[in-house]
Amino acid sequence: MTNSHSDALVFFGATGDLAYKKIFPALQAMVKRGHLNVPVVGVAKAGWNLDQLRARAHDSLEKHGGVDTAAFEKLSGLLRYVDGDYQDPATFAALRKELKDAHRPAHYLAIPPVLFETVVEQLAKSNCASGARVIVEKPFGHDLTSARDLNKVLLGAFDEADIFRIDHYLGKRPVNNMLVFRFANAFAEAFWNRNYIESVQITMAEDFGVQGRGGFYDQTGTICDVIQNHLFQVLSNLAMEPPVRSDSESVRDEKVKVLKAIPPIEEKNLVRGQFRGYRDEHGVAKDSQTETFAALKLEINSWRWKGVPFYIRAGKCLPVTCTEIVGKFRKPPTLIPDSVLTENHLRLRLSPEVTIAMGMMSLAPGEGLSLQTGEMVASRSPRGGEMDAYERVLGAAMEGDATLFAREDYVEEAWRIVDPVLKKNTPIYQYASNIWGPGEVERVTPAGGWSNPTVGQDALSVASQAA
Ligand code: BG6
Repeated sequence: MTNSHSDALVFFGATGDLAYKKIFPALQAMVKRGHLNVPVVGVAKAGWNLDQLRARAHDSLEKHGGVDTAAFEKLSGLLRYVDGDYQDPATFAALRKELKDAHRPAHYLAIPPVLFETVVEQLAKSNCASGARVIVEKPFGHDLTSARDLNKVLLGAFDEADIFRIDHYLGKRPVNNMLVFRFANAFAEAFWNRNYIESVQITMAEDFGVQGRGGFYDQTGTICDVIQNHLFQVLSNLAMEPPVRSDSESVRDEKVKVLKAIPPIEEKNLVRGQFRGYRDEHGVAKDSQTETFAALKLEINSWRWKGVPFYIRAGKCLPVTCTEIVGKFRKPPTLIPDSVLTENHLRLRLSPEVTIAMGMMSLAPGEGLSLQTGEMVASRSPRGGEMDAYERVLGAAMEGDATLFAREDYVEEAWRIVDPVLKKNTPIYQYASNIWGPGEVERVTPAGGWSNPTVGQDALSVASQAA
């Protein structure tokens, strides 16, 4: 099958949360940009009709981004609705009828993973899968075995080239900008390796809790929610070699190689935390051992990175909402005393603003050997105005461009790295909201400390971990 554009979009879970928060806004934006002009079929079991789905779409847009009257009208005209149980073949017969002569539909499974198998089998039986694409949401399984099982189910009805595993971080422009920074600047190659870089740290901090998603979160935890997927994608962009060609497979090959070079995380290199009050959240077990914070250290045993520790830290109820990478340089063999040398660094902030900056030292004004640290900021731009990640990935899937999606082997490698330590049930340490995780994180802290991002002035404060 060629890479022709999908001639219909089907989304299962049309009355659900993901559709409400992310899919309707993405669809309206696609229509507005002239990127969506095919039937859009919502499927759910709610006893609804098409008008109710349209009303839900309207409501979703009012809350998430605003209604654009012209675009909404057009989207309403494209919307179709099929109501029914996913176990019932009649639902899929109705879907096939609604698809008319569409031969390259894209089926988006915006439903809990336990339903994937049923829906995929029904799609195949009802002749809705032939020639079609399938789009699935993370998490892809809950461990290596379940990820393999899930892949088997998908591959039972679709070719790998037609399976699009969404990780919305791949749809974020600042995440793609990392590759532009690395591969569009000749000087970056000179230092971005083990010869110059001492350590790399990635922080994804959120200053809010689980926002009513306690039931989901308690089954998932920080490592499976954002580290094994979103932050590993960030890590891959940081650590990969330049692809030899620009097609999706050449890019994805390089990303997989990064993960292949990472040994499973050791118990001693992981600290898990849980914010106080988490167990009182709706849907969370009273004795929950699920982490809402994790800090870990890993190694990438590649030619470029062997011996350079990579630290990843992510959590809820931290002091700020910010995703930032700091690569610390080795100290130069200078006669200047170590005590006054702060390390040089490269800082890539992905949100809330997008910043690329290099930290360096110079002589402070006045007399004497007093040094100051400053940053050379290559670019700093506020977020906003850009295409939303969901719009980008949905559009790419409908075009059949796999670059922004996780491949089967990548997903399995990611599980191989985290699965053993997840099964060890390592201790969970409580932390108060609004601090940088539990005090025990001291154990997994880069030399010189974690760089705690400050939001507002977009300044960097290098501080040892505060308990
Ligand atoms: C989701 C996680 O995948 O990503 C959430 O389930 C997290 O827990 C979110 O808050 C972060 O995404 P973004 O785009 O807001 O950085």
